[in-house]
Amino acid sequence: MTGPALTALRPSEYTAALIQALQAEAPRVRGKHALEIGSGSAVVLAALGSLGAASLCGVDIEQDAVDAGTLLLAKLGHGATSQLHRGDMWLPVAGRRFDLIVANLPHFPMEPCELSGRLPTWSSGGSDGRWLLDPFLEGLPIHLAPGGRALLTHNGFVGVARSREIAVRHGLALNTILSTLVYLPTEKLDRMTPSVLSAEEGRTIHRYGPYSFADMHIVEIAAPGTAG
Ligand SMILES: C[S@@+](CC[C@H](N)C(=O)[O-])C[C@H]1O[C@@H](n2cnc3c(N)ncnc32)[C@H](O)[C@@H]1O
Repeated sequence: MTGPALTALRPSEYTAALIQALQAEAPRVRGKHALEIGSGSAVVLAALGSLGAASLCGVDIEQDAVDAGTLLLAKLGHGATSQLHRGDMWLPVAGRRFDLIVANLPHFPMEPCELSGRLPTWSSGGSDGRWLLDPFLEGLPIHLAPGGRALLTHNGFVGVARSREIAVRHGLALNTILSTLVYLPTEKLDRMTPSVLSAEEGRTIHRYGPYSFADMHIVEIAAPGTAG
């Protein structure tokens, strides 16, 4: 694993918030079979392992992420209970169900491009930001074990209400369990789909001169009444 590959996989504020939410409810992680879609560096899986998850499964489209994640989990003593797969979204785990599914998907509304040394597959969610979010939500019901739940990062400017509608259509409830502000670098903001930027500025995007921040949430999706 080379330096540039590891740099490209460095964890973000989104990952930090997801780990914070998981740490806040450690008893709900212990003994669970966990899956991360878009596992990247695998640091979220490592955190789940340290919180006592029974098994760790990760899926990522990039071979470098699978290689780096496999190394990290082995190094931290989770080699025997973890497996990482290279593949697209749900395909590598077809027919399988998990107690806890986590995701920090690429869902920034922009066309694929390389930014800050990251691969185009890291952040881009296509013009509306939902290219991966929607298939993730549609596939969730057949991959959640009974009583299972999902935790995912959700940009405020990508439409939490739309995600809630999809969850409800599948008999699931969506609740926000943590909200924070993330810094939006100018190079990223400059590439944001213009219609999203104009609709969200002053609402979920907050500009102070040359500096911008955006609302970001950790949402939990589970059968109604399952929420902690
Ligand atoms: C924002 S990063 C999150 C990474 C991880 N949470 C971390 O902190 O290292 C999104 C990840 O999704 C992966 N990805 C993009 N498209 C994917 C797809 N269709 N199926 C699976 N993973 C995908 C990317 O390679 C990247 O590692």
